[in-house]
Amino acid sequence: MKHFLDLCDIPASELRAILDDAKATKAARKGWPKGKVDAGAPLADHVLAMIFEKSSTRTRTSFDMGMRQLGGTTMVMTAGDMQLGRGETVEDTAHVLSRYVDAIMIRANSHSDVEALAATATVPVINGLTDKSHPCQIMADLQTLEEQGLDLKGARIAWVGDGNNVCASFIDAAPKFGFSMAIGTPDGYEAPIDRVEQARESQGRIELYTDAADAVAGADVVVADTFVSMGDTDAEKRLADLAPFMVDDNLMGKANGSAVFLHCLPAHRGEEVTASVIDGPQSLVFDEAENRLHAQKAILKWCLAT
Ligand code: CP
Ligand code: NVA
Repeated sequence: MKHFLDLCDIPASELRAILDDAKATKAARKGWPKGKVDAGAPLADHVLAMIFEKSSTRTRTSFDMGMRQLGGTTMVMTAGDMQLGRGETVEDTAHVLSRYVDAIMIRANSHSDVEALAATATVPVINGLTDKSHPCQIMADLQTLEEQGLDLKGARIAWVGDGNNVCASFIDAAPKFGFSMAIGTPDGYEAPIDRVEQARESQGRIELYTDAADAVAGADVVVADTFVSMGDTDAEKRLADLAPFMVDDNLMGKANGSAVFLHCLPAHRGEEVTASVIDGPQSLVFDEAENRLHAQKAILKWCLAT
């Protein structure tokens, strides 16, 4: 069973193959109407169930369009509409859905629920974001960087702000693709140390800073994300504590001259990034959003082994 739960669990060669497939399939359908099915309809007759416990624009739309382009179909369920939202166990949900659909994508409040779902399901489970990680996002981000001609091996990627779920998946990816991470966070917002140590044990180069400028110095890529993630309840404190880590033109100026800016979106201009940066020439955020579609199609094909 090939679940797509965390990048640290998947061999580097398989992640490389997923990225190569995403790029090839994107190129092959360049200029096509978005609803046209890919050659050979690789996931014809397959159904993906999507469960959302949290909001989504990109993940929901890109998985839905991705399945259509692969020749398959989807069903979208919010946890509140399911018995899951009334206390039915994750395990029973996994047993039941496995009898109806070919794969399950879930965006969950709790990472452990996704692990429990995968442990019981007899169909592949894809992590569409949890409190702990967001692996699909990082595959799209890496595709975006390679499209710009960046060699990931030896690249320096700076993460600035909250050491959150998206940051954790970047850390997981570092040893798999050979880039280094320079992470700048204030006290209390550090990247998860278990992920950092695991990446370091796999020869990942992860540097931790408490100053944004130190993290960004010499970086090829600068990455920001919201200071208030879904589920965070202390928004006012977070915005105050993280304010010095906003990515502005001055901070971007400390990166390499050719550095690019990434943000998984949704963005909050004037909080984690200025409008001048996210809407400026170094920003790749809409390529990133588009590549969610292409990367996830490759992930779906990998899970369903077509
Ligand atoms: N980046 C991302 O996952 O966006 P959504 O929350 O809109 O799915
Ligand atoms: N860190 C953000 C990412 C949103 C795509 C969150 O979890 O809300």
